[in-house]
Amino acid sequence: MSYHTLLFDVRDGVAFITINRPDKLNALNDEVMRELGLAAERVATEAEIRGVILTGAGPKAFVAGADIGDLAKQGPFDGKARAQRGQAVLRRLETCGKPVIAAVNGFALGGGCELAMACHIRLASENAKFGQPEVKLGIAPGYGGTQRLPRLVGKGVALQLILTGEMIDAPEAYRIGLVNRVVPGDALLAESEKMLRGILAMGPLAVRLAMEAVDQGVEMSLDEGLLLEANHFGLLAATQDMKEGLTAFLEKRSAKFQGR
Ligand code: COA
Repeated sequence: MSYHTLLFDVRDGVAFITINRPDKLNALNDEVMRELGLAAERVATEAEIRGVILTGAGPKAFVAGADIGDLAKQGPFDGKARAQRGQAVLRRLETCGKPVIAAVNGFALGGGCELAMACHIRLASENAKFGQPEVKLGIAPGYGGTQRLPRLVGKGVALQLILTGEMIDAPEAYRIGLVNRVVPGDALLAESEKMLRGILAMGPLAVRLAMEAVDQGVEMSLDEGLLLEANHFGLLAATQDMKEGLTAFLEKRSAKFQGR
């Protein structure tokens, strides 16, 4: 499959997805969102792909937001439809069942910050900048920012960022828990790949069910979440991978997981 606005390259089980509109700081126009939707579906359904690194093309931006040119043309109903389409794309990525790391290489504003938040882990280059500046344009976040940001950093800090539209740098994003690590720009992709390949060396069914338990559990009561966790724990006890993982430990060797 070929894309106009994305680079999609699979190397040894890892899909490297690059949003590729550097002249527009990788802004998310309707075509990017459509292609991202196709890419997320591919990640979810192709067994060959075991994890994803998502980044932006060029030296300046991960994604500088939804394409303001597209937004300028919308009325209330297509505005709502655009938000819902975008939310579905990001949710598909978030629930694709495989670990997705955002390698944030520059501006991650508006929809860019929202896209990074839909990924499971965020690594940021030292020059990365984050923000939800929508209110400056008379709009509010529409691709999940009002929902994922408070879940990640807490309600107070989320409201501060969303209401002021202020931009924060990578160390501040790390301090508030919006990113997992800050690394030098020239090491960003290598560090992201290293972390992802470390995760891919774990039991893939265990990783999948742990992601699912965290994703669903944050929306549940503690008791419901604990039951979900116990069910997953029991389910994993039926897998070859669990037997292999425990046996390998006892035999003092590395485990060779098969994903079954
Ligand atoms: N939508 C559409 N085009 C965008 C864009 C967006 N969200 N963000 C940047 N661009 C375009 C600019 O219009 C410019 O295009 P041009 O060269 O054809 O004029 C190009 O990308 C480069 O951006 P520019 O503003 O010249 O770069 P800069 O380094 O001076 O500023 C930013 C960088 C990120 C501070 C600035 O581009 C910006 O504020 N972008 C909008 C951020 C935003 O509000 N995002 C949320 C949208 S809901």
